[in-house]
Amino acid sequence: MVGTVFLGGRVTRGKKLFTPGPLGTSHTVKKAMLKDVGSRDVEFVDTVKYLRNEIIKMQSRVILNLIIMATSFNATMVDNTQEQLTCGVELSDFTCIPMQGSGTYAVESVFQSAGPSPQGKVLILENGAYGKRMKKICELMQLPFFIASFPENEIVDLSRVEKILEKDDSFTMVSIVHCETSSGVINPVESIGEVVKRFLPDSIYFVDAMSSFGAIPIDLEKGNIDFLVTSANKCLEGVPGFSLVIARLNKLLVCEGKSRTLSLDLFDQYEGLEKSGQFRFTPATHSMLAFKQALHQFNDEGRADNIIREYQENREILRKGMRELGFEEFLDKSHEGYIITSYQFPKDPNFDFTKFYQLLNDKGQVIYPGKVLDAECFRIGNIGHLFPDDMRHLLRCLSDVCKEMGLKLRS
Ligand SMILES: Cc1ncc(COP(=O)(O)O)c(C=O)c1O
Repeated sequence: MVGTVFLGGRVTRGKKLFTPGPLGTSHTVKKAMLKDVGSRDVEFVDTVKYLRNEIIKMQSRVILNLIIMATSFNATMVDNTQEQLTCGVELSDFTCIPMQGSGTYAVESVFQSAGPSPQGKVLILENGAYGKRMKKICELMQLPFFIASFPENEIVDLSRVEKILEKDDSFTMVSIVHCETSSGVINPVESIGEVVKRFLPDSIYFVDAMSSFGAIPIDLEKGNIDFLVTSANKCLEGVPGFSLVIARLNKLLVCEGKSRTLSLDLFDQYEGLEKSGQFRFTPATHSMLAFKQALHQFNDEGRADNIIREYQENREILRKGMRELGFEEFLDKSHEGYIITSYQFPKDPNFDFTKFYQLLNDKGQVIYPGKVLDAECFRIGNIGHLFPDDMRHLLRCLSDVCKEMGLKLRS
C-alpha cells in the first residue's frame, strides 16, 4: 500500500493513476472537498451556476485557441475576437447540464432524452468499446438504430459515412465517440459533423468526448454538435461523481416529456437547474466543490494554456521510453492521440499481465487492461494530474518490473 508519494517536488497521496479513469487530481482539488455544504445553500447554488457558465465559456476559449493557431498572432484581433465570442450568439446557443453519476449516465441521458421517436433512427458510428456501449444503450432502450462499425485501430472513415448517409436519409440522430479511450484513436468529429448536417440538416449530432474534452479542442459550432458529454474526472481534472452534458438549447428544449426515466431526464434536470438553481435529487456536493477548484486550476492558474503541450509531452516521454524498453503500440504511427496509448502484450513467454500489473501496482503505479477486441493489449493513460516526472518514474518502474519478470523484449 502506498501512502504519501513525493515526486518531482509534487506531493500526492495514494497511487499514480495512468488509467482512463478514475484519474489523479491535485492536492488543492482534493482539499476543496474537506467541507460539508447543503444542496440548497447559497454557496452551493452559486457554485453550480459558476460551473455551468464556466464550461460554456470554455468553449469560446477553444474557438479562440483554434483561431490563434490558424492565424498569425495579432493581439488586437484576439482581443476583439474574445469579446465577440464571449458575448456573442455562440455562448447563448448552448447550456451545460451536470448529471449525477459517471460518464455513462450522461451518455444514457442523451439517448434517453433526445433519442429518436419510433419513426426515427440512430446511426452509431463506432470503432471501439465505447461506441459499442452506445449500441447496448440503444438496444436496452429499444431505440431503432443502425451501427456502422470501423476497425478498432482506424479512425471513422468520412467517405464511408458519406456513402451510408447517401443511401439512407431516415436517421434522426448520429452518434460517435471523439477519443475512443479503448484504443486511443481520435475520431474527426468536426468533419463528420459537417457531413452529417449536409445530408441530415435537422438531425441531432451527439459526440461522446468523455476523455478528450478540455485537452483536445473541439469546435461545437464548426462540428455542428448538438450534444456533447464529458466527465468531471477526465481532462478537467476534477474528482468522479458527476458528468456534464453540453446541449444546444434549441435541440434540448424540444426534449420535454420525451424521457422514459426520471433520473436521466435531461430536460427536467435543465429546467430544475434553471428555475431554482438546484438539483432535483441529491447532488454530488463534494465532487462539485472539487470541480470548482479544478476549473480554477484549469482556467485561472494556467492549466488550460498548457494542457495540450503538457499531455503531449507526457505522451512523448512515454512513447520514447516504451519503445526503448521494447513495447509495441497497438495503433500505427499515423494516430497522434495524446490521451491514452494501447500497448500489445509482448510475445515473451514470461509475460503475464496480471503479474505485470500487480508488480507495478506494488510500486504505486496503476496501469489498465486493454479494451480492444482484436488484440491482447494493456493501456497507459497520460491524462489527469500527471506530469513529465511522473511519466519518467513510471518508465523506471516498468523497467524494474521487466527485469523482475525476466522479460527480454528487445531482439
Ligand atoms: C469515451 C468514453 N465514453 C464513456 C465512458 C464511460 O464513462 P464512465 O466509466 O465514467 O461511466 C468512458 C470512460 O472512460 C470513455 O472513455
